[in-house]
Amino acid sequence: MFALTDADLTGTVLDCPGGAASFTAEAREQGVDVIAVDPTYPPDGTSSERSRALRQLGEHAAAEAERGSAWARDHAADFEWTTFATPADHLAQRLAAAAAFTAHAATEPEHYVRAALPQLPFADGAFDLVLCSHLLFTYADRLDDAFHLAALTELLRVSRGEVRVFPLVVVGGVREHPGLEALLGRLGDDVVVDLRATDGYGFQRGADRVLVLRRAQPADDGRA
Ligand SMILES: C[S@@+](CC[C@H](N)C(=O)[O-])C[C@H]1O[C@@H](n2cnc3c(N)ncnc32)[C@H](O)[C@@H]1O
Repeated sequence: MFALTDADLTGTVLDCPGGAASFTAEAREQGVDVIAVDPTYPPDGTSSERSRALRQLGEHAAAEAERGSAWARDHAADFEWTTFATPADHLAQRLAAAAAFTAHAATEPEHYVRAALPQLPFADGAFDLVLCSHLLFTYADRLDDAFHLAALTELLRVSRGEVRVFPLVVVGGVREHPGLEALLGRLGDDVVVDLRATDGYGFQRGADRVLVLRRAQPADDGRA
């Protein structure tokens, strides 16, 4: 969904929000230096307390996957069955992701940091790559433009490279957020905006582009 290559994952990576997805677990298996952030992660505590709380989050995600997949099965015509071949495959992949999260979070809980946009506890430019999926634009029906602007600005602040956001379609919708272009125009002249095709990922109808943002470098010569 982020159109990532192996080369994109050679530096430090932030996944915000990480939720109970398997990105961090899978990236760690490849040796990626990755941190996931989510407000549902447990606060500071002992490692075993945090592991237990993260495990509960993973178990809850498995139950949510059953509920979400039942909805997708009952509204199958509203989805593209490419990345997930069938509703049963969707459920199987969601359950596998929740299980991978649960197993990994129990062993490396320090990779899961509790925080919430639009304020992250990281220094300017702390990450080479920042990923954000299924929060911004997805919930544009309840998160307003001011929140989107503040959140994107914060994601750009902690990135010394790119910020990638997917999808750009509101949940339950089939079209990209109508205020997308206007909102991106308010990010500032020094932000380079690229709307790129996803790398074959398909599920939500109309969600086929990933937003790629970065601060312009002097060499960009006014292309921002
Ligand atoms: C639909 S999940 C997406 C998780 C993951 N990126 C994925 O695609 O599976 C949305 C996540 O956003 C998190 N969230 C809600 N408000 C947030 C905020 N202000 N900042 C960061 N994450 C937030 C929720 O806790 C939830 O885990």
